[in-house]
Amino acid sequence: MTETVRTRVAIVGAGPAGLLLSHLLAAAGIESVVIDQRTRDEIESTIRAGILEHGTVDVLTSSGASDRVLTVGHRHDGIELRFEGQGHRIDFPSLTGRNVWLYPQHEVLKDLIAARLAGGQDLRFGVTALRVEGANTDRPRVFAEDAEGKAFEIDAEFVVGADGSRSVARAAVTGSSTGGYFREYPFAWFGILCEAPPSSEELIYSNSAEGFALISQRSATVQRMYFQCDPEADPEALSEEEIWEQLQIRVPGTTLQQGPIFQRDVLRFRSFVAHELRAGRVALVGDAAHTVPPTGAKGMNLAVADVLLLERALRALLLENDERLIDGYAETALQRIWKAQHFSWWMTSMLHVAPDASDFDRLRQVGELRSVVESEAGRTYLAEAYTGWPLASAGH
Ligand code: PHB
Repeated sequence: MTETVRTRVAIVGAGPAGLLLSHLLAAAGIESVVIDQRTRDEIESTIRAGILEHGTVDVLTSSGASDRVLTVGHRHDGIELRFEGQGHRIDFPSLTGRNVWLYPQHEVLKDLIAARLAGGQDLRFGVTALRVEGANTDRPRVFAEDAEGKAFEIDAEFVVGADGSRSVARAAVTGSSTGGYFREYPFAWFGILCEAPPSSEELIYSNSAEGFALISQRSATVQRMYFQCDPEADPEALSEEEIWEQLQIRVPGTTLQQGPIFQRDVLRFRSFVAHELRAGRVALVGDAAHTVPPTGAKGMNLAVADVLLLERALRALLLENDERLIDGYAETALQRIWKAQHFSWWMTSMLHVAPDASDFDRLRQVGELRSVVESEAGRTYLAEAYTGWPLASAGH
């Protein structure tokens, strides 16, 4: 006999989207079960991006999910766009009245996991979702296998796929595990973590003839940096000296503070939006619904925006039997998703150098960068998108 676990909402995936959703649902008195294939340690130690929009920080703090973001994280009031060896600062508060916080995603995850476990959440690690069935019934189900390989089912009133870009839940919504709108890019990021003092107080997004680089930070002693590379690049193929050389030539005008490199990875990226975000009583949030290239720092923020919409819709559906918001979930969420897709694509194409770029392409790109930094309207568009468009209120 297969064990059956009953709950109101089954959430597949304990990333930022799944955990935040369970947190907000619990505050509304709606019970959920969260499963994830990974161990707690894997989730808490995977290095991901680190920029939180203004509204994301508001949600994390006002819902009681994390106040460490304000003490351990760093507020950033701007970024620098660098091209032709010159830096141009985009000042967020004067353009939008908002700012962002640098606080790595795995720290958000540690806070959310701790908060959920303290709140008595049924949160199961090492559990693999095999498939989701019954989207068009009142009791959709997740078929899963625990860490020992024992099969069980979760029988719920609603199933949420928050299981990332290789989502298993997606097939129950779109009819296939891949169905969606795609764009591939002919480059990737070579990312490093190093022990060194910061090279800059704020993030530098640098365009150069040699390609793109991003100078980010983690703390007073640890820095995160990326440079544009071939998607097939082997992260182990370069010596530390070669890595520093590649980084430095992409940020002319700034002298990078070098130090031992203790982590390196090649991040391939693409743009993706699933053809459907909901079918009956199954919905997708976060990377299961969409992925963006990292240049706009939108990934986790977009997941939070989806979750706010879905949480409100689930409250109406499960507490008041009101289907209007869930019926509108996909359409409403997609408006922000496509704006963020555009912004992420725009930042990516404006800053990177395609392998087949002609002189025309290069010079046009510099013209584009100049149009942004020399115009208050241009800087404001970038600042509004980067700090985040207004969110649906969290309702707590
Ligand atoms: C990071 O610090 O890892 C980071 C920051 C901004 C981005 C992407 C990654 O756009």
